[in-house]
Amino acid sequence: MGLFVLGMAGATGAPYAVRTLEGLIEAGHDVSAVISDAGRRVFEIEMGTTLSGNPEADAADLLGLANVEGPGNLTVFTINDYAATIASGSHKTDGMVVVPCSMGALARIANGISSNLLERAADVTLKERRKLILVPREMPLGLIHLRNMVSLTEAGAEIIPPAPGFYLRPESMQDLIDSVVGRILDRLGVEASFLKRWTGAEEME
Ligand SMILES: Cc1cc2nc3c(=O)[nH]c(=O)nc-3n(C[C@H](O)[C@H](O)[C@H](O)COP(=O)(O)O)c2cc1C
Repeated sequence: MGLFVLGMAGATGAPYAVRTLEGLIEAGHDVSAVISDAGRRVFEIEMGTTLSGNPEADAADLLGLANVEGPGNLTVFTINDYAATIASGSHKTDGMVVVPCSMGALARIANGISSNLLERAADVTLKERRKLILVPREMPLGLIHLRNMVSLTEAGAEIIPPAPGFYLRPESMQDLIDSVVGRILDRLGVEASFLKRWTGAEEME
């Protein structure tokens, strides 16, 4: 099975990260995760879980939040662990997703500024021409945000805004989360049990 890097930066959207982790682990993929300091603060506010910064404890807490035990494995790295496997291009991965992605992380990745392990792993993913998906969240978007997204797209990254569709008639917050995460996993080439595909308007009637 594959190995994916999951970066979690300090934008709102921790539930997207948790569901992405669940989808990857459940599909049998290994995950190397890194969360920024601001990301941990967002997790505390949005999920009510304090991630201590201890890699083993954070891995256990994240798997608990995702309510998944395997078959894939989760390894968490601390944000300043520049000796981590994912800091090197010689360490093979199948791609990386940054979900949620702050505008700060987006800007630094767009400009090759590897100020922490999350940004370094994204830089490595781009230079190795592997799949990099960013799920940036801000509103409204300023010109600098938009320009950075163009630069990243030109460099080969994919931008997936966390913008759920309503045409499948979501009934719960989980449906809205799944409509975003289903597409993220789809773009990573990972089959998600919860991705609902459009099969035509007739099916809705
Ligand atoms: C609850 C909360 C929500 C936030 N939401 C966003 C957001 O949606 N987008 C964003 O760019 N920054 C958001 N921020 C601000 C970032 O966390 C802040 O800019 C931080 O420096 C980002 O650091 P990082 O890129 O290392 O994760 C939020 C902060 C908090 C505490």
